Amino acid sequence: MPAIVVVGANWGDEGKGKVIDFLAEDVEVVVRYCGGHNAGHTVKNPLGDFAMHLIPCGAFNRKAVNIIGNGVVVSPEAFTKELRMVQDAGIDMTGRLFVSDRAHLILPYHKMLDGLDEKRWGENAIGTTGQGIGPTYADKAARLGIRVGDLMDGEAFRERLRFVLAQKNRLLTQVYELDPISFDELYNQLMVARDDLMPYIAETGTMVRKALAEGKRVLLEGAQGTLLDIDHGTYPYVTSSATSASGAALGSGIPPTQITKALGVFKAYTTRVGGGPMPTELFDDDGAQMRDRGQEFGTTTGRARRCGWFDAVAGKFSVEVNGFTGGALVRLDVLDVFPTVKICTGYRLDGKVTDEFPSHVMDLERCEPVYEELPGWLASTGNARSFADLPANAQAYVRRLEAVLDCPFDVIGVGATREQTIHVRPVL
Ligand code: GDP
Ligand code: IMO
Ligand code: MG
Repeated sequence: MPAIVVVGANWGDEGKGKVIDFLAEDVEVVVRYCGGHNAGHTVKNPLGDFAMHLIPCGAFNRKAVNIIGNGVVVSPEAFTKELRMVQDAGIDMTGRLFVSDRAHLILPYHKMLDGLDEKRWGENAIGTTGQGIGPTYADKAARLGIRVGDLMDGEAFRERLRFVLAQKNRLLTQVYELDPISFDELYNQLMVARDDLMPYIAETGTMVRKALAEGKRVLLEGAQGTLLDIDHGTYPYVTSSATSASGAALGSGIPPTQITKALGVFKAYTTRVGGGPMPTELFDDDGAQMRDRGQEFGTTTGRARRCGWFDAVAGKFSVEVNGFTGGALVRLDVLDVFPTVKICTGYRLDGKVTDEFPSHVMDLERCEPVYEELPGWLASTGNARSFADLPANAQAYVRRLEAVLDCPFDVIGVGATREQTIHVRPVL
């Protein structure tokens, strides 16, 4: 059975958690393939309300195996805390949660350096989540990382940590004029973390490939969004991993040819948290109303999210980069109160209108949105369970988005809970 990937189509927080939670009901394996606990995936289902940061949202299907893939960066503290949270809710993860031995560890100096860099960069700061994500991926690329599997060999691990920490302490003392991190303290701390992680460490790539060979259904869980992808996003205002569909093969250890479906999760409007250009951002009452109705505050950092009308130029770019075979349009209900709704179908750049998403932020910063206006529906959609239940103007809005994006919506979200979902056509 081939694999299906679920990807955020925008700047993250589209509603991936909700979509993955209900799709995971019908799969045997869920693999998170990028990012770390910078992610915040909200799940509201009959078992409760959960903010998932690291453990895949397939945790709630007791028959599904959940894997934190090699493309993820793992904070041992975040892992232990989240595992406890899930287990306290009565969900047993024994024998069905695994962490790749190839995943890189987020260590205390990564988090320190994330904060120090952001502070030092002043107005050039990225507005990161401050969890040490960027410095950990930087060390991975610089071949200075420590992997989860390194924890398994005590003596080799001790030597590796000693070497790596010496490099980091040089940076901390000479550039930042801080005290060095004590090797003994860090080593002892990591030995405790090792005991917590040990039962879950596995060579997960083999596990996923084997599952596919046995005909099992595998769901690849994206984090962040396409516009935050290290290559295709609005660089440098991006995260540090390959968040788009292409990253799913890399970050889970399966061949790209095994991924036959890519589901893009779109919000019915646009949000962004952190720095960087966002052409449709609203600073007026409409933006405030989206934030209020949508409770647009970060799941990880609590920061207010920037809100604006649906950006179909960015959306179309996302469809093309990921090759979406279908989409999930969530949070349609948030727009229930607007007399008119707008879709950004082009950007005005240097006097010309374009529907190309610029590759350079300097250009994107200068883009002004060109809007198409549609009548709103001024009616509640929260109880709609089929496309026909939606008011005519809401149907027209959805259809227009599909046409502009050239991507059909398989799923429409009309509320945060699992049942507030319109299943237009099967995803799996
Ligand atoms: P993720 O990071 O992509 O998983 O998204 P987040 O969980 O950070 O943010 C999405 C928010 O939207 C969460 O608060 C969800 O509970 C909520 N949500 C998801 N789908 C819907 C929907 O269709 N309608 C409404 N009103 N809220 C939704
Ligand atoms: P989910 O999976 C929204 C943003 C940060 C910042 C940039 C870099 O919940 O959609 P980082 O800490 O990754 O180095 O920050 O990326 N960012 C997110 N924005 N949703 C997320 O995850 C995000 N993860 C990172 O706000 O702008
Ligand atoms: Mg989120």
